[in-house]
Amino acid sequence: MNGLRSEALSSSHDREGFSCGVAALDNYLQRQASQDMRRHVAAVFVMVSEDQPQTILGYYTLASYAVETSGLPDEAVKKLPRYPTTPATLIGRLARAVDQPGFGSLLLADALGRILSNTREVASALVVVDAKDDAAAAFYHKHGFIPFGGTARKLFLPMKTIAGAAQRRAR
Ligand SMILES: CC(C)(COP(=O)(O)OP(=O)(O)OC[C@H]1O[C@@H](n2cnc3c(N)ncnc32)[C@H](O)[C@@H]1OP(=O)(O)O)[C@@H](O)C(=O)NCCC(=O)NCCS
Repeated sequence: MNGLRSEALSSSHDREGFSCGVAALDNYLQRQASQDMRRHVAAVFVMVSEDQPQTILGYYTLASYAVETSGLPDEAVKKLPRYPTTPATLIGRLARAVDQPGFGSLLLADALGRILSNTREVASALVVVDAKDDAAAAFYHKHGFIPFGGTARKLFLPMKTIAGAAQRRAR
């Protein structure tokens, strides 16, 4: 990601100037995100360019999560130990600025990379997303996420898949 970096949201970032076209996601960044960080209910990361580090190009939130193992598809369950719950990381929100088409994939790749490195410290076997609508679900589906829990809006990706892709890229 030449000239780009992701970092924790801070007061140096121009939150008011961010618009992804979905009011609820803009409002979250402007009004709620800092408080969620202070209360440790979400870690909020923004993507910025090196030459305009105050301008938010996109953001995502991460939080610990637990999934009822029995609610996952059989194929996934077979590869997991028989614990009633499986540790996961939730991408609660992810949005890119309206003038940054194509940036969603970059944000998602950054989030997955961060989650993968974090799992060495706090284990997480799945990444879960809560898609806010069918278009968002299609975006995640396109990136290999699998629906579960009887709804097309909740999707997961096994950490093994993410680690495998990272290893292939490193070769
Ligand atoms: C959802 C979002 C992050 C996608 O970002 P993006 O930059 O448009 O996505 P990309 O161009 O990187 O998309 C990659 C693939 O996902 C699919 N995709 C993206 N948006 C889609 C949509 N609305 N409907 C169907 N498929 C979609 C495309 O097929 C695309 O593949 P392609 O390159 O072959 O066309 C972006 O539209 C956004 O920020 N929306 C507002 C916030 C939001 O809805 N967030 C969802 C999480 S709650």
